[in-house]
Amino acid sequence: RKIKMSIIIERYKDKVSALPKIDNGLCKYEGFWYCHGFWLNDSNANFSVEAIMALQDEFQALPTDVFLASHAKSGTTWLKALSFAILNRTKYKISNDSNSSHPLLTTNPHDYVPFIETQSFLNNPSYANGLMATHIPYTSLPKSIINSDCRIVYISRNPKDVFISSWHFMNKLKDEFSTPTTLNDAFESFCRGINPNGPFWDHVIGYYKASLGRPDNVLFLTYEDLIKDTENEVKKLAKFIGCPFTSKEEDDGLVQEIVNLCSFEKLSEVNKVNKDSKNTKKVLSNDIYFRKGIVGDSAKHLTTEMMQIIDKLTKEKYDGLNIAF
Ligand code: A3P
Repeated sequence: RKIKMSIIIERYKDKVSALPKIDNGLCKYEGFWYCHGFWLNDSNANFSVEAIMALQDEFQALPTDVFLASHAKSGTTWLKALSFAILNRTKYKISNDSNSSHPLLTTNPHDYVPFIETQSFLNNPSYANGLMATHIPYTSLPKSIINSDCRIVYISRNPKDVFISSWHFMNKLKDEFSTPTTLNDAFESFCRGINPNGPFWDHVIGYYKASLGRPDNVLFLTYEDLIKDTENEVKKLAKFIGCPFTSKEEDDGLVQEIVNLCSFEKLSEVNKVNKDSKNTKKVLSNDIYFRKGIVGDSAKHLTTEMMQIIDKLTKEKYDGLNIAF
């Protein structure tokens, strides 16, 4: 499964140079926008279109693999933590005891569940242990992920909250010398679908339709449901990824313990300190993935007109589909 990073950008140079591009450095590939042509050194959070092309050509999924898919800022970190805790609950006992040595109490969930389209994964795919994540749209996934009979869990989120979360994230990524992107500029790009892995709506629709056509292989979750009814959604997730809770585990309160361990409060506290990572050298700090962790925070940032624009766009895009937002 190993793919040599050093040759990837060179290998796809001609293919990428033929793609439509725009000023902000993104290119359009198979209907979605991506960064291209650069890799931050040693980053575990770096997505370039060349990686998607390499994965499409070479990635081999196994039937036992589980992929966590999402558009960025939809709840990926939370889903990673929950899935990791569920799948490894025998190896790593869940306990709310302050002396607990559960890895999520010292290590960021992104270190245990790598994005497949990143430099660190491509250089060292073996550390994934069958649980991986991706922001690649459904229609551009490597064929072996579709054909291998493995499971894909998608998390969707209200587009207004995704937009506000991304805008904050994007500006946090900028260094002190760069000018922050204004809310208006970011809003216009997002609504036109021009952001990494955008258009957001098409990303959601691809996985939503796949979940209808292949319900045994694709589970469609929403951030809002996960907030509203965390325990039941976690049970649904565990069942889907092949390790349902036993009645004894439920009676013993294990589901609630996993929910607590992976809660925004717990993980944001633990990740305040940028602890050394075991698997990757990091450019991003651990706390960048945690901001508010609530539903509807976008209303505090968007004007009424902006909210109406996104809502109208979303209704048009999701027309005829039963996608909650
Ligand atoms: P906000 O910016 O609205 O707070 P992603 O993980 O896909 O990058 O998404 C990040 C969003 O999920 C951020 O939303 C972040 O605060 C929220 N988040 C991270 N961990 C969470 C958790 N354990 N529970 C709930 N929300 C969480």
